[in-house]
Amino acid sequence: MITNDKPTIFVTRRWPTEAEAALSKYFIPTFNTSDTPLSTAEMAAGFASHDAIAPTVSDKICDDIIGAGAKGSGRLIANFGVGVNHIDLGAAAKAGIAVSNTPGVLTDATADLALTLILMLTRRAGEGERELRSGSWDGWRPTHLMGSSLQGKTLGIIGMGRIGKAVAYRAALGFGMDIVFQNRSQINDNFSYSARQLDDVESVCRVADIISLHCAASPQTYHIINSERLALMKHDACLINTARGDVVDETALAAALCENRIGGAGLDVFQGEPAIDPALLSAPNTVLLPHLGSATVETRTAMGLKVVENARAFFAGKRLINPV
Ligand code: DGY
Repeated sequence: MITNDKPTIFVTRRWPTEAEAALSKYFIPTFNTSDTPLSTAEMAAGFASHDAIAPTVSDKICDDIIGAGAKGSGRLIANFGVGVNHIDLGAAAKAGIAVSNTPGVLTDATADLALTLILMLTRRAGEGERELRSGSWDGWRPTHLMGSSLQGKTLGIIGMGRIGKAVAYRAALGFGMDIVFQNRSQINDNFSYSARQLDDVESVCRVADIISLHCAASPQTYHIINSERLALMKHDACLINTARGDVVDETALAAALCENRIGGAGLDVFQGEPAIDPALLSAPNTVLLPHLGSATVETRTAMGLKVVENARAFFAGKRLINPV
């Protein structure tokens, strides 16, 4: 509901201080001061009574919420996040509700986290930390927790978009890895390091020592890593997922890990998160993080400012900067 010249915006979770301040400058925001997840009914009521809703990637924006918004004052879903698989885009298009997201600003942070997982896994950092904290470390010895080096190994990227390229850059120039990748369209970049596009996901699975997933979640990428593709991986290869839980068949992955058919997995995203499949929790050689890809103050602030930019453009009658 517009009560003065500023549009109203319903914000589902707390943002970094600077981003909330920027939002308050141009909008009348309603913040979720308790920062607890909202129910579908709460989000539907919020969208219906505001001009826009700013959800995050952990809010399921279903047809009911979109329908309530469209019947009320809602006109824009300004997503805090780049991934939009939690939003019913078909329902939004049908209801004439615009959708924006926040690409670009989280590329480096997410790429850094993919490298964090790669290093934690290959250098057995999670295991080492658990051992030390449990009091069972009995001192340095030549064969203690030997990991493996990245130098000269092959990194396979699935989805060579912004984040995939940022990971490849770090791995090649920082750690001396060779890069192979799969992407649904041909990539014609002139890479300053060794990088080869392969024909399909299977080819990447066969040759990579580490596979890092950077494709968006979509019906086409659902379980893009399944039991057949896991079976193609080298017995000591590792799988890294900072993309979305849906792109991996977690049951098949847990089985492959438990049966030592692959070397390990580093996961930052999960199907049905924050619930984690118990089979993954008990699988060996895993590093599991709570969806931290974009979690730096700088990045989360930039994401909030992108929401503000998009919403300002929209309510000024201009084109969205990042339309979905
Ligand atoms: C996104 O924006 O989609 C990320 O997953 C948040 O970290």
